[in-house]
Amino acid sequence: MADYSDHNAESLAAWDQNAEFWDEAQGDEGNYWQRTLVFPNTLDLLQPLPTTVLEIACGNGNFARQLSRLGVSVTATDGSSAQLQAALSRSEGYHLNWIQLDATDRSQLATLAGARHAPFGAAVCNMALMDIAEVTPLFDMLPLALVEGAPFVFSILHPTFNPGPQVRLFRERIETPDGRLIEESGVRITGYHDTGLQYGIAVVGQPTIQPYFHRTLTELFSAAFERGWVLDGIREPAIIDGGDGDAEQRLSWDHMPSIPPVMVARLRHRG
Ligand SMILES: C[S@@+](CC[C@H](N)C(=O)[O-])C[C@H]1O[C@@H](n2cnc3c(N)ncnc32)[C@H](O)[C@@H]1O
Repeated sequence: MADYSDHNAESLAAWDQNAEFWDEAQGDEGNYWQRTLVFPNTLDLLQPLPTTVLEIACGNGNFARQLSRLGVSVTATDGSSAQLQAALSRSEGYHLNWIQLDATDRSQLATLAGARHAPFGAAVCNMALMDIAEVTPLFDMLPLALVEGAPFVFSILHPTFNPGPQVRLFRERIETPDGRLIEESGVRITGYHDTGLQYGIAVVGQPTIQPYFHRTLTELFSAAFERGWVLDGIREPAIIDGGDGDAEQRLSWDHMPSIPPVMVARLRHRG
């Protein structure tokens, strides 16, 4: 797999710069995708819920707070100090353990084995692997911080159907055999194998563009499999309820109930 570690500092700087805007968009509980696609499926794959969870790239802490309300002791980490600051200011009254941690840095990852609550009963990383310049350090080092056989559940923009900024949404008018006119939406992918660095936005209007690191399913899972992980759970949720009222905008993921914009996967290390 290509190494984009040179772009890690640039990526973290963009996340720092966009932190306030991102935090506004996420709110306390996460945005519509988080609440309907990411969190329920992540929670499902985390069952039975362990008493301790390590979160990588926690952003403004939306999922950490949800886990905490469910009685889990959470150690939440992110590489961006501004994201952690936003997380802290939204988490008054919660007993969460926050650590600034660059998930591409092996020596920082190694310290997790000695962190409070380690070894953890699970690790989680929501919607961030495509934002992280290098994922092999995480696959190498996470097992040292986890109970043997504990799950690592991650959600990600679906590498096949939603591979970052290159995805094109379309809407077409179709004449049916019985003479009706209907409209259908879909995605057009022209470069699934064009992996690596792209630039784009996570939220329309954010102050600065950010790097994305698109990896094919083969690249992503091979990197994990080669390091002793096995895949033992997967979800590919789509927006089936019409979305969050964005229906005015007809060219939207809200109108694709049969195409998953997100993938959630569970890995376990064989030890
Ligand atoms: C799309 S946000 C997801 C945040 C949160 N998990 C959520 O679901 O709302 C991506 C996160 O990845 C973090 N990130 C990017 N590169 C990182 C790195 N090298 N180490 C740790 N976190 C990183 C960013 O700071 C940002 O908080």
